[in-house]
Amino acid sequence: MSAKIVDGKLVSQVLREKMKLRVEELAKRDIQPGLAVILLGDDAASQVYVRNKVAACQAIGVQSRVYRLAANTSEQKVLEALKLLNNDSEINGILVQLPLPKHIDEDKILEIISPQKDVDGFHKINVGAMVTGHARFYPCTPHGVMKLLEYYGIAIEGRHAVVVGRSNIVGKPMALMLLEKGATVSICNSKTPDLASFTRQADIVVVAVGKPKVLSGDMIKPGATVIDVGINRLPDGSLAGDVDFESVREVAGFLTPVPGGVGPMTITMLLENTIRSSEMV
Ligand code: GUN
Repeated sequence: MSAKIVDGKLVSQVLREKMKLRVEELAKRDIQPGLAVILLGDDAASQVYVRNKVAACQAIGVQSRVYRLAANTSEQKVLEALKLLNNDSEINGILVQLPLPKHIDEDKILEIISPQKDVDGFHKINVGAMVTGHARFYPCTPHGVMKLLEYYGIAIEGRHAVVVGRSNIVGKPMALMLLEKGATVSICNSKTPDLASFTRQADIVVVAVGKPKVLSGDMIKPGATVIDVGINRLPDGSLAGDVDFESVREVAGFLTPVPGGVGPMTITMLLENTIRSSEMV
C-alpha cells in the first residue's frame, strides 16, 4: 500500500484564505499587520526563504519590510536596528533569518527582540511560556506540522511520537507540542544508536536532522505517519528531505513530500503569528 501524501501547499492555501479574512477585519480597525525581516549576508537558501516569506505576506495583505545587511555588519548595528524595530508601531513581527554569520552572537540577537514581536517564538521568554503551556507564539515549523496533523485528522493523544532532531527551531519545540497534545514522545538525534529500534515503535515520526535518507521504509511501522522537515541540496542540484521518500512511501500511512510538505506550512505559520501579534495590539 502506498502512503497518502500530505499536501502542505493545499493546507497552506486553505489556512491562508482564512487569514485573509482576519487581515480584512484588522483593516476595518485601520490596522495592517507588519513584518520586518532581517537578512545578513548572501546565503543562497536564506535568500530564497526570505523571498518566499515576503511574497506570502504580500498575497494576504501583510506589510513586509526586508533589511538586507552585508555579511560583515557589526553585531552592534544589528542590535540597534532591532531596538528601532521593537519601537516601530508599524511592525508587529520581527524575524532575523538564521543562520547568522559567525561573528554574531545568535543568543544576543534573539534576546533583544521584543517578546511581543517575536513571531519566530525563539526568545527565551516565549520558549519558557511554551514549555509551561502558555505559548504566545509557537515556533513556525513545528506549529505547521501540528496543523498538518490536525487537517488530516491524525490522532496524537495516546500515540507514540518519535522526533529525530534536537534543534531549538524544530526538534525540541516539536517534541513539546506533541507532548502537550498527549503523545508519548521519544526524542532521538543523529547520534542515537540503533535509531530504527525507536522509529519502529512510532505512530508518528518527525525527522529534522538535515541529512538525506536518515529514515527508510524498513525503519517504520506499517501505517505510521512520517513528517519530513529536512531540505537538503543533493550533489545533482535537486532537493531532498531527510526521509528516503520512495521506500517510506511503501510502508507509511501518511507522508509529507519535499518540497511541498512542511515548507509551505512554516511560512503559513509565520503569517499566523504576525496576524496574531497585530490582533493583540
Ligand atoms: N532558518 C531556518 N528556519 C528558520 C526559521 O524558522 N526562522 C528563522 N528566523 N530562520 C530560520
